[in-house]
Amino acid sequence: PELSKPTKWKGIAEIAGISLMADTVDNWSQIQTFKAKPDDLLICTYPKSGTTWIQEIVDMIEHNGDVEKCQRALIQHRHPFIEWARPPQPSGVDKANEMPAPRTLKTHLPTQLLPPSFWTSNCKFIYVARNAKDCMVSYYHFYRMSQVLPDPGTWDEFFEIFINGKVNWGSWFDHVRGWWEIRDRQQILFLFYEDMKRVSKLLLRDHWQGSCLRNVSDRDVWKNRVNVKTRFHSPQCYLHPQDPKHEIQKVMQFMGKNLDETVLDKIVQETSFEKMKENPMTNRSTVPKSILDQSISPFMRKGTVGDWKNHFTVAQNERFDEIYKQKMEGTSINFCMEL
Ligand code: A3P
Repeated sequence: PELSKPTKWKGIAEIAGISLMADTVDNWSQIQTFKAKPDDLLICTYPKSGTTWIQEIVDMIEHNGDVEKCQRALIQHRHPFIEWARPPQPSGVDKANEMPAPRTLKTHLPTQLLPPSFWTSNCKFIYVARNAKDCMVSYYHFYRMSQVLPDPGTWDEFFEIFINGKVNWGSWFDHVRGWWEIRDRQQILFLFYEDMKRVSKLLLRDHWQGSCLRNVSDRDVWKNRVNVKTRFHSPQCYLHPQDPKHEIQKVMQFMGKNLDETVLDKIVQETSFEKMKENPMTNRSTVPKSILDQSISPFMRKGTVGDWKNHFTVAQNERFDEIYKQKMEGTSINFCMEL
């Protein structure tokens, strides 16, 4: 299957079988020779996995929870997007080169296309992964509202295109696998959108039901990333029923920062979906309608886990699960599909 071209289509091209904007491909030699620095922090995601969300979290941590400092510029201008190009505007690489250190940068590139200096400069990476089904739904609505991407067709058509990896930045499966497999070889903090979204109401419900293990996902218990028993006995769990805080704390530690509880609580609040949807610096409301038409679908659309259930048919779901099993065979990664 192929995507049909809209009128405003500038072009899609490929590098090593991965679809990218044609301007990015035209600028490929500048991108590949980009010089990373040891104190760079690179935010890496497959599109629609919560990039804007983690960018805002990182920026808030960097500025010690100072909301005004985070209002200094649009989110898409705060962190240069390495492979972004639209001449005659300065490219992502141009913007990164002008930025004083320490820099926070953004990319959607799969590992095999990342500029090599990122690997040799030993910088830090934060990767956010989102479950494939919600990612597909979010990407579908993004393709619909974007006026510079090809027309995604119907949901059924887009479903085929996505599973075949014929979308920009390529296959979700290869992207996530690639970054997951190298997570221990580099300084990579690997996060999940679903963990950032999880609220400890599950734990509260467990308390009421008198069983501290019930309703807590297998993955959490298995990986021991949430020590359920400790939390169950800790009154803090009830005072701070937000789990994004746990993930934000991990980001803070990874960035080598130390912020007090009150600042962390403020960051949790300011980076909630509701706040970011209202915030003109994060909701893309200033992007012209000729590029993103938010009357078709808002950029800050739903921000939930499990919206795939409103889109996938039973048959599509079964087929997807089968394909997922094949494509992700041999990897230890485990996603949570609903909260
Ligand atoms: P939905 O389309 O499912 O709503 P990206 O920034 O990588 O393009 O990802 C966009 C997706 O992240 C959208 O998903 C958007 O709503 C969601 N998102 C953005 N900010 C969020 C937040 N603070 N909390 C939860 N989801 C958020």
